[in-house]
Amino acid sequence: MKKEVKADYNYHLPVMLKETISYLIKDPRGIYVDGTLGGGGHTEAILQKLVSGGKIIAFDKDIDAVRHCRQKFAKELAEIEPKLTIYNESYMQACSKAETSTQISGLLLDLGVSSKHFDSQSGGFSYRSDSQLNMRFYSEGKTAEDILNSASEEELERIIRVYGEEKFSRKIARRIVEFRRVKALQTTFQLKEIIQSVIPSSNPKDSLSRVFQAFRIAVNNELGELEYALNCILPKLAIGGRIVVISYHSLEDRIVKAFFKEHTFNKFHKNKFKDEQLITNNVPTLKIITKSPIFPDIAEQEFNPRSRSAKLRVAERFS
Ligand SMILES: C[S@@+](CC[C@H](N)C(=O)[O-])C[C@H]1O[C@@H](n2cnc3c(N)ncnc32)[C@H](O)[C@@H]1O
Repeated sequence: MKKEVKADYNYHLPVMLKETISYLIKDPRGIYVDGTLGGGGHTEAILQKLVSGGKIIAFDKDIDAVRHCRQKFAKELAEIEPKLTIYNESYMQACSKAETSTQISGLLLDLGVSSKHFDSQSGGFSYRSDSQLNMRFYSEGKTAEDILNSASEEELERIIRVYGEEKFSRKIARRIVEFRRVKALQTTFQLKEIIQSVIPSSNPKDSLSRVFQAFRIAVNNELGELEYALNCILPKLAIGGRIVVISYHSLEDRIVKAFFKEHTFNKFHKNKFKDEQLITNNVPTLKIITKSPIFPDIAEQEFNPRSRSAKLRVAERFS
């Protein structure tokens, strides 16, 4: 008899759960990587689908998420041959953790932050509560405070423009530099006031979200890690194995879309006899399963407003 999915989603409500699982799992005996464990909602649903031999290797950079899941899955982790292994590391490590002989049946990346990050009073992820400007998922590396107080005006402008797609990037960068000439910029509310002092009052929330997002992406090298992981996992994916990515902003989605396209086996070239020939080589290739991205349905968007910006894309290795 199947277990009921435990409905303890206080930590984070998994987005497009049903869709994700039905796209991801083709082989219930397969090895799956959940690169973004979070509250463990997706992992829990994957576990329910696996039969003997099936496994999940899960990652989260955030020790809080890992602790939460070690507790949540204590029973599963205590089994003699546990189906689940959890690492407090970046999903970039998925390639080295999977043994060289291991073929992965599916990779899930549910990108960005969990609700716990936004709701936390201390992580510095949200402009809604006053806290130190940390924004790191991991306990190592530069914090947002470090970057805000040391980067040049040009670099700050670039971060805000490129990672936040914010049109007032120049003004905001200049005001940050003016502020820190007087005193160090340390808190989310100081950054919020700086942003609000230069943007028109018509839509302050959008600019605030974009600038906070920009520094979070920079602090955690989110786009670089995504690109790296997609590239390193592809050769480890079994034929028929799937990559499922849920992204929450256009920068992430663009990387996923471009990666899928680049590895799609549709490249024809004309040989010297002017026949069209399919370029064949040994490079692993993908078939795009979701021609257009999948969005949460209206009911989910209403029930979980944070799912509104989610886009799900799927590709399958076929050679
Ligand atoms: C949207 S949440 C995932 C939610 C999860 N699918 C669930 O069902 O609860 C994203 C998680 O990914 C983690 N994360 C972000 N970037 C990461 C990375 N490069 N490596 C590992 N974990 C990462 C965050 O700490 C966060 O817990």
